[in-house]
Amino acid sequence: MSPVPLRLLPDSARVGEDGALSIGGCDIGELAAEYGTPVFVYDETHLRDRCREAIAAFGAGNVVYATKAFLCTAMARLADEEGLLLDVATGGELHTVLAAGVPAERCVLHGNNKSGAELRRALTEGVRQIVVDSFDELDRLEALRAEGLATPRVQVRVTPGIHAHTHDYVATGQDDSKFGFNLANGDARRAIERIRAGRFAELVGVHCHIGSNVFEASSFARAAEVMVEFFEPLGLPELTLGGGLGVAYVADEEAPSITEWGRVLGKVTSGLDARVLVEPGRSIVASAAITVYTVGTVKRIPGIRTYVAVDGGMSDNPRPVLYGSGYEALLIRAADAERTEAVRVVGKHCESGDVLIHHAHVPADLAVGDLLAMPVTGAYDHSMGSNYNKVLRPPVVFVREGESRLVVRRETDADLLRCDVG
Ligand code: LLP
Repeated sequence: MSPVPLRLLPDSARVGEDGALSIGGCDIGELAAEYGTPVFVYDETHLRDRCREAIAAFGAGNVVYATKAFLCTAMARLADEEGLLLDVATGGELHTVLAAGVPAERCVLHGNNKSGAELRRALTEGVRQIVVDSFDELDRLEALRAEGLATPRVQVRVTPGIHAHTHDYVATGQDDSKFGFNLANGDARRAIERIRAGRFAELVGVHCHIGSNVFEASSFARAAEVMVEFFEPLGLPELTLGGGLGVAYVADEEAPSITEWGRVLGKVTSGLDARVLVEPGRSIVASAAITVYTVGTVKRIPGIRTYVAVDGGMSDNPRPVLYGSGYEALLIRAADAERTEAVRVVGKHCESGDVLIHHAHVPADLAVGDLLAMPVTGAYDHSMGSNYNKVLRPPVVFVREGESRLVVRRETDADLLRCDVG
């Protein structure tokens, strides 16, 4: 099998004449020696370029970065510096973004079950908008307004009845969904009427998000058509069409670019006299990063399989276990080598399900001590990581123009005990 195509790697990835991989002008082997493994390495220029591409496609002020995809204070600041608004889906995400120094009025609060405390904090801090998701949430907002808290600006999240082509766990636009107000059964209209009649919130727009890692532009177009039909007669200033653009994870996948996504949505919304916003997460950050591991064990079971075990696993990347997601692997010292050996890349956790790549191909001379990189780990890997088996969460390093900087340090054994009080 041929080498992992460079298009899956961060934009600044280069393979030297000796086969060694560098990103952002930094030699990955040297970074691994400096920061240890596993480590997430993000190409900062790639991140900024994707933010800029989104702004060019949708307009300044119309792009909301979905922080759930990857969030730390450095990323929150980067998105803010690039002029993106920030979607926070919990009090914890809001807290992190505020701690980064991003003003609350740059934040949009999401969530299908926002607590009273989360809503209270959002209102006290003065977030830009709240995307309301249920009648119970409207009750809570009404009660908070009666207490004297600020009148929130809200968008109503609508479930447009579109089943996007993606994994069921991340499809959200179909009628059978925990998210949003159902369009077909009249709930969306009832929510709007209630807000307009109640005067406890200012209605500024309507929102939908049909799912994540969607590859087919036609799914977005269909949802946008349904939403435009509903939205136009309402005479509101803002329509948000969610995130969800897919990215290629493996060699034979192709995904539309942010620019192409913009063209598809633009065709449907061009006649609208309103602001059209989007909320990309994955398409901004996924291919900006790789995870670098050290190979610790190579177990050859003749006639059955070869297991290559690395020093991380489902705790730093649960996506293969959760969604059956595919990834590729490459050797840092021989990034352009033919990959002639079929192996299974596994982690160090105590269960057989701890698989990173079911069917990986690697160069035949891969050996214990080698550094192995998995590309396209920038979205929903660090953010969904855990401490399973008390494995320490890896650090995050940003690289750019030959410089590296640590933006999230590796956890320590002391971190593992910081909440134990008994
Ligand atoms: N807006 C809303 C309201 C969302 O719920 C999401 C993602 C986004 C925007 C951003 O979607 P993106 O552009 O990243 O597809 N953990 C899963 C993905 C969960 C997506 C949750 N919502 C995964 O690893 O595939």
